[in-house]
Amino acid sequence: MRTQVCIIGGGPSGLLLGQLCHQAGIDAIVLERRTKDHVLSRIRAGVLEQGLINLLEEARVPTRMGTEGYPHDGTVISFEDMEVRIDFTKHTGTAVMVYGQTEVTRDLYAAREQTGGTTLFEVDEVEIHNAALEGDEGASVTFMHQGTRKTIECDYIAGCDGFHGPSRQAIPADKRKEFERVYPFGWLGVLSETKPAHHELIYANSERGFALSSMRNENLSRYYIQAPLTDKVADWSDDAFWEEFKRRIPRRVAEQMETGPTIEKSIAPLRGFVCEPMQYGRLFLAGDAAHIVPPTGAKGLNTAASDVHYLFRALQACYLDKDPKALGGYSEKALARVWKTQRFSWWMTKTLHRFPDTDPYELHIQRAEIEHLASTESMQKTMAINYVGLPY
Ligand code: FAD
Ligand code: DHB
Repeated sequence: MRTQVCIIGGGPSGLLLGQLCHQAGIDAIVLERRTKDHVLSRIRAGVLEQGLINLLEEARVPTRMGTEGYPHDGTVISFEDMEVRIDFTKHTGTAVMVYGQTEVTRDLYAAREQTGGTTLFEVDEVEIHNAALEGDEGASVTFMHQGTRKTIECDYIAGCDGFHGPSRQAIPADKRKEFERVYPFGWLGVLSETKPAHHELIYANSERGFALSSMRNENLSRYYIQAPLTDKVADWSDDAFWEEFKRRIPRRVAEQMETGPTIEKSIAPLRGFVCEPMQYGRLFLAGDAAHIVPPTGAKGLNTAASDVHYLFRALQACYLDKDPKALGGYSEKALARVWKTQRFSWWMTKTLHRFPDTDPYELHIQRAEIEHLASTESMQKTMAINYVGLPY
């Protein structure tokens, strides 16, 4: 098999890049390790920036966002009994869209199937060859599929295979630097078929730790609480979750919120991570393959989309404007935005969580930060600009 761009990973980054390439007449094949049903069973991000929505439009992906998405023009930050509303539209003229990553992925798969793009599922033992630019031989990817070993010859490889995929490891260790911040807690998340506690998201820093009230639609709520890394899902009954959650969000919201059986429960660790550079010869990393943010601030999927934007522009320049040198600037452009989203996610995380070493001094600093945010328009604007998404 031969293609122009071999995309490893059929998550949102790989699928979006695949559809953009397809619409631009650039040939691409997507390789995914799991089944489509498995990919669609993962409950992840819920908040989309306008930049991602624009890319979906550019890729001509019909989404159900018009009828099933919820534009949000603000969010609430609370600290114990204090509440601050950040007005996105007032400060930036833009809103964000509540529309699950699962739905984005479902729309992307439907578009891919409709336009006849090739996706191979349940591939195994994916290996990258000749990514370095030395020598005349082109790059290739080998893998096991339906019991046979296959090879795809290609011009370029897009590593969109998430944090644990093989692409990043294909960059020789002496050619990459990794920067990491592991947080000493995780997020326990639940999905429940109940009315959202509040019409906007609430990010709460309480005496008992962080909580986030989010949603998918008017009868599907998504809630998270900060939990010790040693906790297991089985340690948390639904009743225990609701009791703890209600103790962390503003009392007026807790008192009237609806609870019920949860339909999903999972624990995710929190980590910040960046790999530099995001390219090596003919191999380009995008999304979680290159970086991870702690989820506070909803930047993971959105930053994956900005990588796809920069990579796609470079591929367009290479194939359509015959300017392959444009690819050489990908990593620098993508990383400049990646580090700004790392900074924002780190700021949100440290301001809103209780750390094991949060002493009375730190607590005063957190309170002062929120009071400053509440009383200072320019701080609110800075937060709004970052939350709705920095320009590409
Ligand atoms: P992935 O979604 O990880 O996709 C990678 C794909 O590659 C997978 O399908 C995987 O099966 C495949 N793969 C792996 N190895 C191989 C291999 N060897 N061969 C072939 N395929 C392979 N982000 C936000 O922006 N907003 C949010 O609100 C938000 N909330 C989150 C909440 C939770 C609980 C979690 C866990 C994450 C959240 N994120 C959020 C982060 C977001 O989900 C990720 O940033 C996003 O999934 C990245 O997309 P990706 O395509 O780069 O990687
Ligand atoms: C969701 C997740 C986040 O990390 C976040 O900051 C906002 C919303 C969600 O899953 O709905």
